[in-house]
Amino acid sequence: MHAPTATPLVRSAPPRSRITNPGALLALHPELRIDQDIYNINVTANFGATLTASETWQQIATHDGAQKPVHLYFHLPLCSYVCRFCNYVKRQAPTGAKLDDALDHWTGLLIEESQRYLRGAPWLSAARVESLFLGGGTASLLRPRHLARIMRHVQDNYSVIPGCEATLEGNPDNFLADEVSDAIEIGFNRFSVGLQSLDSKVNAFAGRGHDRQMSLKSVCTTRICSRRLRAGPANSDSSLSGFSA
Ligand SMILES: C[S@@+](CC[C@H](N)C(=O)[O-])C[C@H]1O[C@@H](n2cnc3c(N)ncnc32)[C@H](O)[C@@H]1O
Ligand code: SF4
Repeated sequence: MHAPTATPLVRSAPPRSRITNPGALLALHPELRIDQDIYNINVTANFGATLTASETWQQIATHDGAQKPVHLYFHLPLCSYVCRFCNYVKRQAPTGAKLDDALDHWTGLLIEESQRYLRGAPWLSAARVESLFLGGGTASLLRPRHLARIMRHVQDNYSVIPGCEATLEGNPDNFLADEVSDAIEIGFNRFSVGLQSLDSKVNAFAGRGHDRQMSLKSVCTTRICSRRLRAGPANSDSSLSGFSA
């Protein structure tokens, strides 16, 4: 006589080959679905309308945005290391002199892309830029000369409102010395630092390049520099006044 088979309390994970896309995974596990209004991030939201590239471009080009608020985002898709959990658009950056070449190259490409938008969507130059976010990838890999080129491009080609928020996003590894004060000089007035965890073991497991001590130091550096930013005008160059604190 056979013993009755116990009904498993937890459904065993489906074989990997069956999970072909997030939609299939969510169909198998509806409890994992998070409402878009609660957590809307590009990597998980899958509810948007589907437009072809030319339809998307048509909508951008004809948008009635002149004099209206706009927020600019520039994405540097390079990182010094690739973390295990990350599914943002990025690739591992080269090292040494090749890194400088890659950063020069990408800075040029970001500006060129922005110029294409400005040419194809003339309303953009008349829209009120309320914030600029330079992210990635790891935007904090950029040297002051790259940051200055991007900032100058924005200043010269868009209508930046006074006091515009300008964020530089990065990893603690790149916010340990003069990088923050250099960026403030150029006109950045907000810093987004990806600590992930203050437990060094967690960060090592995730493939990060910073431990607890480096993370804390980057927060101190950023806070000290930001205090100076609030204490007085950041830019001596009046042509960058849109980006002062
Ligand atoms: C894409 S990174 C760019 C900034 C910087 N390189 C960093 O690592 O913080 C920005 C943040 O996205 C978060 N992130 C990365 N992968 C993610 C994922 N798969 N789902 C949700 N958040 C993620 C991380 O917490 C990270 O700090
Ligand atoms: S450093 Fe940031 S962007 Fe780069 S792989 Fe890690 S989480 Fe992703």
